[in-house]
Amino acid sequence: MKILGIHIGHDSGSSLVVDGQIVADVSEERFVRIKHYAGLPVNSIHFCLNAGKTSFDELDFIAISGEITDPKLKILLNLSDEQFNQIITNNLPQISFGARVKNIIKNRITYHESSPLYMSFYNLAPKTKVIKVDHHLAHASSAYYTSGFQNCLIITCDGVGDGTSVGVWNGSHGKIKEIKRYGTSGSFGWFYSLVTEALGWWVGDGEGKTMGLAPYGDRKAVLKKEVLANYLPGYQNGEITKGIDFGTVKYFREHDAFHWHFPDAIKIQKVVQDFGPENVAAEAQDLLEESLLDFIRCWVKKETARNLATAGGVFLNVKLNQKIIEDNIVENYSIFPNAGDAGLALGAALYVSKKFSPDNTTQKIDHIYWGPSYSNDEIELILKERNLPYRKSDNIAQEAARALADQKIIGWFQGKMESGPRALGGRSILFDPGKPENKDIINMRVKFREPFRPFCPSIMEEYAHEYLSTSYKDRYMITACKVKDEKRNVIPAVTHVDGTCRPQLISRQINRRFWELLDYFHQYTGVPVILNTSFNIKGEPIVCSPRDAIKCFFDTGLDLLCIGDFIVSKR
Ligand SMILES: [Fe+2]
Repeated sequence: MKILGIHIGHDSGSSLVVDGQIVADVSEERFVRIKHYAGLPVNSIHFCLNAGKTSFDELDFIAISGEITDPKLKILLNLSDEQFNQIITNNLPQISFGARVKNIIKNRITYHESSPLYMSFYNLAPKTKVIKVDHHLAHASSAYYTSGFQNCLIITCDGVGDGTSVGVWNGSHGKIKEIKRYGTSGSFGWFYSLVTEALGWWVGDGEGKTMGLAPYGDRKAVLKKEVLANYLPGYQNGEITKGIDFGTVKYFREHDAFHWHFPDAIKIQKVVQDFGPENVAAEAQDLLEESLLDFIRCWVKKETARNLATAGGVFLNVKLNQKIIEDNIVENYSIFPNAGDAGLALGAALYVSKKFSPDNTTQKIDHIYWGPSYSNDEIELILKERNLPYRKSDNIAQEAARALADQKIIGWFQGKMESGPRALGGRSILFDPGKPENKDIINMRVKFREPFRPFCPSIMEEYAHEYLSTSYKDRYMITACKVKDEKRNVIPAVTHVDGTCRPQLISRQINRRFWELLDYFHQYTGVPVILNTSFNIKGEPIVCSPRDAIKCFFDTGLDLLCIGDFIVSKR
């Protein structure tokens, strides 16, 4: 059974699931080079079909997590009006005849576009069924079907999707049952995004900056005024007791990405001016953690859950995840690493896969390397064509480790690209974590990010217990944890101001070449840890192709590019 997942919207993308196995998953932003791209994921679909050695007319299902009535779907699938309305009717049986007619008229009036011959589009085969998967159900599926739990509580939480901001679900023997949904008046995500906009950052992108800034602040500085708390939804015993009116949240599209605006952000901006951005960030983070933890505790108790699986953009907040783990709210906790909307295409495909298959198990994923990869022949051809200075290495891991020990900054382009927002050793920039000034050096020469934002460590899993005060095995930089006191001076460039880090544990079985690099670095320096940040410049998507990597390499102060078996230098 072949299922193509498609998400059209913020962080568009595609995925392919064949006979229950994840074959491919990628975000369109990586191809079109526009962060959080919201247009048609045509390149992603093309990649997924190639990765599965299949064609569009062999698909059994297309699982759509975006708006089924979006005329873009019509363009993408090259549908006639009749076919398009048939799909809408099949997926939204509750829609009234009047609403359907309205839809048809709206589509005809607003969407006269048709794709030209030279653009990729896909003709829907007669056997292929198109199925709409609700936004939060797709998040829930991504969480549950990758968790390995047979029975668990599932909580999904984001700004809003299909009218829902928070979802509570039960996963049992491969089936997901909805327990409760909450609308935008209970949106934890919008609360945090509102503050993020007031701090001057892009909603749906800058929330990580708010979280990174928070440890520099003092919550008490803002608390007296209780301005922020007015925008925090209140919950008791699983019911909303204080709903928030966020007003009409507007947006505009710039380069086909959404930029949202909350009308009340201007009021919070005044608080930022009065009390300082770091103090506002601190209070927002504290309020989010306290209230969402209470909410989760309540549902864990109600459902007597031992296992918890989560997804939705709010669970990209690594400090929140740290609290869930440290407070021992459940015995076992699984966070889908690609928790934001970029994970919806896969969530939708997994949902449809389970719905139409007798298989009632879930699998625990052990990696998310589901993106494009390039052979040595392909890479060398590109290097030759560009007349670049390169040479082939017999042992790229060893040479890279030697260079890192010699204080070089390295672009590391190896194997399949990772899904999700973090670089996990497929498309990474690496540096020595052992010197405090290295954080500023890498920022100044390569990343150009805000100086308060932390960098993350990749750690050989055999030594994690020596460096980290947690037994949680995080392979995806999706949780924060304390660095042991005696190790903070050993890896200062990846230890945040509050003494925490956001680690990736590296296993020899899962990413052998990256593990070997760490092993050599350990031999040279005595430290089994490296600084690992995403292979991109601030504001750009992570590099995808060799060409992207070459452009980034020559546009920054990177010393070496280790790409496949080749080492590229600048002279
Ligand atoms: Fe979402």
